[in-house]
Amino acid sequence: MPQILIAGGTGFLGRAFVRGLDRRGAQVVVLTRDPERAAKLGLPVEYVRGDVRRPSTLRAALRGIDTAVLSVQFPGYPVEAPARGRTFMEVDARGTAALVDAAVDAQVRKLVYVSGVGADPHAERAWYRAKGLAEASVQASGLAHAIVRPSWVYGPEDRSLNRFVALIRGIPFLFPQLGSGRGRITPIHVDDLADLVCEAVLGTDGDGLTLEAGGPEEMTLDDVVRTAMRVLRRRKPILHLPIPLVKVGAAFLERLPGQLLSRGAVDFVTQDGVADSRVARDRFPSFQPRALAPGLEAYLSGF
Ligand SMILES: NC(=O)c1ccc[n+]([C@@H]2O[C@H](COP(=O)([O-])OP(=O)(O)OC[C@H]3O[C@@H](n4cnc5c(N)ncnc54)[C@H](OP(=O)(O)O)[C@@H]3O)[C@@H](O)[C@H]2O)c1
Repeated sequence: MPQILIAGGTGFLGRAFVRGLDRRGAQVVVLTRDPERAAKLGLPVEYVRGDVRRPSTLRAALRGIDTAVLSVQFPGYPVEAPARGRTFMEVDARGTAALVDAAVDAQVRKLVYVSGVGADPHAERAWYRAKGLAEASVQASGLAHAIVRPSWVYGPEDRSLNRFVALIRGIPFLFPQLGSGRGRITPIHVDDLADLVCEAVLGTDGDGLTLEAGGPEEMTLDDVVRTAMRVLRRRKPILHLPIPLVKVGAAFLERLPGQLLSRGAVDFVTQDGVADSRVARDRFPSFQPRALAPGLEAYLSGF
């Protein structure tokens, strides 16, 4: 049976891809910097050691692989830590390029790159630029490939919407929102994204395409918070914290160890991220992502 390697298979998205591919009977190998730590996740896979910042570790990992899913991101993202090599350019752009080079050397047949909406190699902001450069590496590889650009992804194990949930539950009387709350997104449940990625991996309908992937609703960040409040049955006013003020705090925090917050991360979490999923829906009629409220009900209700 053809082997599928998932670089980033221990991550939030990668774990959902592993589960989806396993359900479909695929044989999956996960590339990780630390197989011993990864083994504790209990995923139904083999692990192979590799670090995208050390290209020499990748060739052996990709040998014998039919299709590689590239879903790597630096620890602590979106808060960059340049002194530790934890940046969008280092891991997403150059790391993905290193994986692509190794895949070409190892004669991998196909690549599926997990990008993000707004990817653009000429963008001013590093995350859009890094994603755009990574896409360009994949497209220039000469290998069969599909690119998936998710909007904001949520699920029981995410680190973004679960922060909102913790604030709704933990802070009495109000909800502190960074900025205006008017950033527009199309939130998608991680399992719906995983179904699309698995179909793109195992079939040919996404080959050569860039598939934007979002949920059925375009909503503001405030709408997301209000929906989560409704599901949790805890309504409170939203207090908007002005971005310049938040950035003063972020400028201080980015000097401390621990990747707590940075000015770039403030921009990252308040930006627009609207996916146009028409190509994905046309090519994959089974791609019918659920709306946010039922998506959240399934794992938040009862608390
Ligand atoms: N989460 C979202 O809402 C969202 C939305 C749009 C796009 N995306 C994109 O989707 C991809 C996956 O995101 P995620 O949320 O699943 O990230 P995540 O949970 O932070 O996982 C990151 C993964 O990258 C691996 N990794 C980190 N540094 C590495 C290195 N130097 N060498 C090899 N592997 C390394 C980690 O594996 P080990 O620690 O085991 O080595 C981990 O599996 C990213 O490219 C992200 O930009 C995510």
